[in-house]
Amino acid sequence: MTDASERDVARSELRWGLITIAAVSVIMLAVIYAGVVMHINPPSNVERIDPKGLHLSAEFTEANLGTKVEANGQITARIVTTQFAFVPRCVILPADTPVTLRLSRPDVIHGILVSGTNVNTMVVPGFVSQVHTTFRKTGDLLMPCHEFCGLGHSEMLATVRVVPKSEFHPGPDGRIACAAK
Ligand code: CUA
Repeated sequence: MTDASERDVARSELRWGLITIAAVSVIMLAVIYAGVVMHINPPSNVERIDPKGLHLSAEFTEANLGTKVEANGQITARIVTTQFAFVPRCVILPADTPVTLRLSRPDVIHGILVSGTNVNTMVVPGFVSQVHTTFRKTGDLLMPCHEFCGLGHSEMLATVRVVPKSEFHPGPDGRIACAAK
């Protein structure tokens, strides 16, 4: 009798152990699938950059900021957030197209969100914040800094101009900037 019940306990524990392993495996596979296949990962993707040499680095020099269509067709908007401005103040991107925002900053911690979308990330000195998204609505979306970064924090905002694909015409170098309105 005692033997049987001990065996029952062991079997029950084993069963729950296996269920737990199965559940954790499903969650881990979902996380890996989202990261590798769907490219969903935390914006702070542990990509380091020297904040002091930001404007000298190849990627975040002034001439390389704004929207660019890469050779492989990838559309990337590069933005530097500083106290207390975005460079550039406006980026233009096509709707219904996967796009990437890459942000970095030379000074203090900022945070950005694009109103009406799920784009929301901290921008931490020494790192590149990267967000993959697809904008569904067209129009000028406000992109404010939402992390208190100093006296000018409330003045710190930019615009993401989302245009229909048919109106997105980058130049021969793949670059496109917001036209003055
Ligand atoms: Cu930058 Cu608040």
